[in-house]
Amino acid sequence: MDGRDLVRSVKAVGSAGVAQGLRTVRAAWRRRRTDADGLPPRGAERARVPGPVQAVEPGPGGGVVRFSRSELRITVAVNGAVFWGWDGAAPEPSYALAGRCPEPDPRAVLEPDKDGGWRVVAERVTVAVSRHGAIEVLTPGGVRLRRDLPPRWWEPAGGGSARWMQRSEVAADARFFGLGGRASGPRLRDGTYRLWNTDPGRSFGPGDDPLYLTMPVQVVVADAATHLVFHDASWDGTVVLREGQEGAGSGHDRNGTSELRMDGGPLRCWVMVGTPARVLLAWASLTGAAALPPAWALGHHHARWGFGSEQEVRRIVSGYLERDLPLDAVHLDIDHYDAHQVFTVDPERFPKLPQLAEDLRRDGIRLVSIVDPAVKADPGNAVFDSGTAENAFVRDAAGRLVRGVVWAGESVHPDFTDARVRQWWGRLYAERLAQGFAGFWHDMNEPTSFTAFGESTLPRSARHFLEGRGGDQREAHNVYALCMARAGYEGLRDLAPQERPFVFSRSGWAGLQRYGGAWSGDVATGWPGLRASLSLVMGLGLCGVPYSGPDVGGFDGSPSPELYLRWFQLGAYLPLFRTHSSLRAGRREPWQFGTDVLEHARAALVERRRLLPYFVTLAHLARRTGAPYVRPLWWAAPEDRALRDCEDAFLLGDLLLVAPVLGPGTDRRTVRLPRGHWYDTATEQVHEGPGQVLVDAPLARVPVFARAGAVLPVRGADGGLELEVWAPARGRTGGGMVVRDAGDGWDEPEIERYVARWEGRQVVVEREGEDGLSKPPHPVRIRGLGTS
Ligand code: NOJ
Repeated sequence: MDGRDLVRSVKAVGSAGVAQGLRTVRAAWRRRRTDADGLPPRGAERARVPGPVQAVEPGPGGGVVRFSRSELRITVAVNGAVFWGWDGAAPEPSYALAGRCPEPDPRAVLEPDKDGGWRVVAERVTVAVSRHGAIEVLTPGGVRLRRDLPPRWWEPAGGGSARWMQRSEVAADARFFGLGGRASGPRLRDGTYRLWNTDPGRSFGPGDDPLYLTMPVQVVVADAATHLVFHDASWDGTVVLREGQEGAGSGHDRNGTSELRMDGGPLRCWVMVGTPARVLLAWASLTGAAALPPAWALGHHHARWGFGSEQEVRRIVSGYLERDLPLDAVHLDIDHYDAHQVFTVDPERFPKLPQLAEDLRRDGIRLVSIVDPAVKADPGNAVFDSGTAENAFVRDAAGRLVRGVVWAGESVHPDFTDARVRQWWGRLYAERLAQGFAGFWHDMNEPTSFTAFGESTLPRSARHFLEGRGGDQREAHNVYALCMARAGYEGLRDLAPQERPFVFSRSGWAGLQRYGGAWSGDVATGWPGLRASLSLVMGLGLCGVPYSGPDVGGFDGSPSPELYLRWFQLGAYLPLFRTHSSLRAGRREPWQFGTDVLEHARAALVERRRLLPYFVTLAHLARRTGAPYVRPLWWAAPEDRALRDCEDAFLLGDLLLVAPVLGPGTDRRTVRLPRGHWYDTATEQVHEGPGQVLVDAPLARVPVFARAGAVLPVRGADGGLELEVWAPARGRTGGGMVVRDAGDGWDEPEIERYVARWEGRQVVVEREGEDGLSKPPHPVRIRGLGTS
């Protein structure tokens, strides 16, 4: 982090900028002083390894293995996930878990293994522990997926939390994914990845790491199986990854390696093994079902930092309506606040916000509000006063308020790791609801506080409640936004119990999906940024956060018409489809880039609206199964190595494959197809996978393929549900599922299942029900007949 924060904050506040700049310098200085007082130097450290095994104690689902200098608890849970924790670490308390830790699987037992080791054999995985504390994860057939070497701790001689390191090996063919939202993925190549949620302080591109939303979740895909490893510790850490290499000819294989170092916290982890779908299901059963966005949130959103006034918002909305461009939500950024203070409205520029919200809603458009955690430290400011009365703000070890600098100037931060504070904060959304807002966009919650130099967050010594355990920012930092999301989500559920809350957040951690989604933050305008924005969505999905999307067009500068259009076309197939840009950036309305772009953007918007029933179905499936909407091509074929390396296309659910254009001057592109028959939806030409095809990608559209046999729910011309069916391959059947949204409340929707099959020269579609097959209650349109 450098002086760019300072520059940004200075520019943002205009003439008051110099004073703001001085405040950031003071904040940096204060931060250093607070840390010097609150965090004694670590001093000398002692290194430790587990030592030899001494005893074992079987227990439900596994047991405890005692070593001379540590002990290891292993439990197989009923959802098939395996937990292990060193030094007595238990699965709870945990910010990642959705509720209580799942019950142990009584069938899994600890038994002696070769060479004085021990093992736990479960249905889907075997975990073998060597007599010096190496842990192997094996498939039921005995193929090794991962080998953790005995861990190593460094303990301060004077007491305190130990740092630790865990080195692991994976198969030579394995590929790494995950670790939260990363700009240079989705395949995580050799490099160092930091686990510390960070505002990079400027628009980011593929080389920037870490970003806003990190998490210690690795998804490892190899020939033998896929596995997910989650180290449940929220402290600052780094992961060094090195992909393996298969020996050509008679050469030896070199394993892949992962080296995780953490500055503190328990050394405990969860491992899930199986197919990608099974692994994500287990992960969701552990960390919670994804909040279901209301249907309107699956449409198109338009945001901008610097709308300026109600009139401008109305002008933009009219621009959409007059041109017949679908629009579902408009987002108001900090400039609608009164003097940048959260939970306020500028009375001059936005004098009749509830009226504006009502007018927009009549046109089917919702208003979404940004919500920043920082509260201006100013007696007389109602949020500050009520937070002070609740003792809600983060303090230092001496009991003084920790002051930072954010948009409103000198600010304090609520301690969201305290349930009492979360409740107070949740109640504040009443003001937003009264203004007519229907959704909430959490920002600056890494948490970010501008400093002129050093890290732009709170001091590490800042004290946090941590649900009563007590601790400091070193442990609370990475879960701060997760806890803020919880506060917002639960508050909204109480305030408007009839509606599903819509919250999405810049920062977060494992389990964020329980409360909402994410967005990619300030992605740099440029082709590399476009690519990075897809990487983030895929990485987050594999870490259990299925709903996210980028700032279409990029956050800063002005995209070329071509870049804007290609970004727009990609966004149209991502869960959160939102244009957004910075105060100083060029405009992002679809009509700003010439008539061709406008026509092609309109086509993308219309297609998104047509696919809305499919997006709604995907949202429900994500909630029920943990499967993200946007999936890497290897999702259903992890054994296809070529697909593991393919990062420029994705599956949208089971039925569609989207091949966005990620570079300039393209009118054709190659697409790697997984096995099966795939129709180019524009030409209806059928292609057979696995393999690579070269297809047209004119400016007017990006290539999209439908799986043969797909029964796709779409919106018909009259707004009703229609089934678009892609003829199955000859002699094969197909099918699909439709989950119909029962409004924006909590009613359980109906799930419809369809099968498609050939009958002579015709494709017949039927609905499966308890009483057998019946005629679908929706119009059916068969496609691909001419080419199948
Ligand atoms: C930073 C966010 O990432 C960006 O989207 C937003 O426009 C600004 N903060 C101002 O609120």
